[in-house]
Amino acid sequence: MAEAAALTASNKKALPVRGVHHLVLTTDDMKVTIDFYTEVLGMKLVHAMKVPPGLGTGSTNRGNPPFENIRHYFFDMGNDSLLAFFEIPKGEKPQSDRDAIGGMQHLSFVVRPQAAFEALLERLKARGIEYRGPSKMVSGPGYSVYFYDPHGARLEASCDHVHEEPSVIRDATQAKNNVIEELRTLWDDPQWIAKVTGDQP
Ligand SMILES: [Fe+2]
Repeated sequence: MAEAAALTASNKKALPVRGVHHLVLTTDDMKVTIDFYTEVLGMKLVHAMKVPPGLGTGSTNRGNPPFENIRHYFFDMGNDSLLAFFEIPKGEKPQSDRDAIGGMQHLSFVVRPQAAFEALLERLKARGIEYRGPSKMVSGPGYSVYFYDPHGARLEASCDHVHEEPSVIRDATQAKNNVIEELRTLWDDPQWIAKVTGDQP
C-alpha cells in the first residue's frame, strides 16, 4: 500500500508497466484464425472459451462486443503475452479501417533467431500468402516483412539478426538530440521538451 501511495503521489515516477498482457483482435471465423496463427506463426492455443452470459448485451457489459456467448480464444504470442480473438457473428460488423483514429494499424511480432524469420517466409510462400519485404527496419538493425491475417489485420515480423541479445527498446532508442529536434516541430516549448525528455527533476 505504501508503494501504491508513493506512486500515486508522484506523476514523475515510472509506473511498473512490464509490457503487453493481451491484445484482442476480431475475426468472424475462428477456425480460419486458429489455422493461420497456429500453422503460420506457430502460436499455441492456450485458452478457448465463450464469453459468459450478460457480458454482451446485458447491463454488465464493460466494453465487450454486443453479442452473447461469442468465442474468446487466446494464443501464446511469446514472452509471456497473449494474442486473443473475439469471434464476431458473420455480417454483423463491417471490415475495420486500420487507418481509422484509435484503430489498430498493425501488429509487429519479434521473430528470432534469423532461422525462424526465414522459416516464416517459407511458410508464407508455401501457403501463397503475399508479403512485402524483407525491408530494413526503421528502428534499429534488422529486417521486417509485412503481411495480413485472413481477416485483414496487418501484421509485421521483425528480426534483429545483428545482436546476440535482442532488445527492442535498445534498438529503437534514439540519441536525445534527435528526439528534441523532432519534438520542436510538434510543440516548440523548451520547458515542455525538457520535461518530456527527462531533463527536469
Ligand atoms: Fe511496424
